[in-house]
Amino acid sequence: MCGENIGDGNNLRWFLGPRINTHASEPDLDQAVTGSAQSVPPTFLRRVLQLLDSVKSAAEQKMATFVKIASKGELPGLDEAKEFTYGEKTICVANVEGTITAMDNVCLHRGGPMGQGLVEDGKIVCPWHGWQYDPKSGAAVHNAAARLKVYPIKVEGEDVLVELGD
Ligand code: FES
Repeated sequence: MCGENIGDGNNLRWFLGPRINTHASEPDLDQAVTGSAQSVPPTFLRRVLQLLDSVKSAAEQKMATFVKIASKGELPGLDEAKEFTYGEKTICVANVEGTITAMDNVCLHRGGPMGQGLVEDGKIVCPWHGWQYDPKSGAAVHNAAARLKVYPIKVEGEDVLVELGD
């Protein structure tokens, strides 16, 4: 059993089914996995739970990774937008009424560069044809279903950090 590919966590939960309570104490786990023709060895079960915890922890850490995209001194001025690149990705960073925001740089209309646009009335305006986006949600003003991805952004010391996710 230990050498088999057990798949993802959902498959494992299905396999273990009602035989396991992941919050059970050690004696409860022992009891849960013995006395049945289909019982799972407690040591195997504990190892699987450890692996699940480590996978979950790694996924959470990956999602929470901020990367430096600029220095504080490079941030756009009040009610201005600017483009920054990280790897192959370009981010539109805007200073909207004093709040720094980050969103995808490619307008959903025809791909205009949002970071070269304007900030007007609390919205980021595409420079090509004027589509306006809410800087907090990324939603287009005229159609909330059209939504640019927004990214958490923060300034730590002199570094501007953005959480790009995967
Ligand atoms: S490309 Fe942005 S409004 Fe047209």
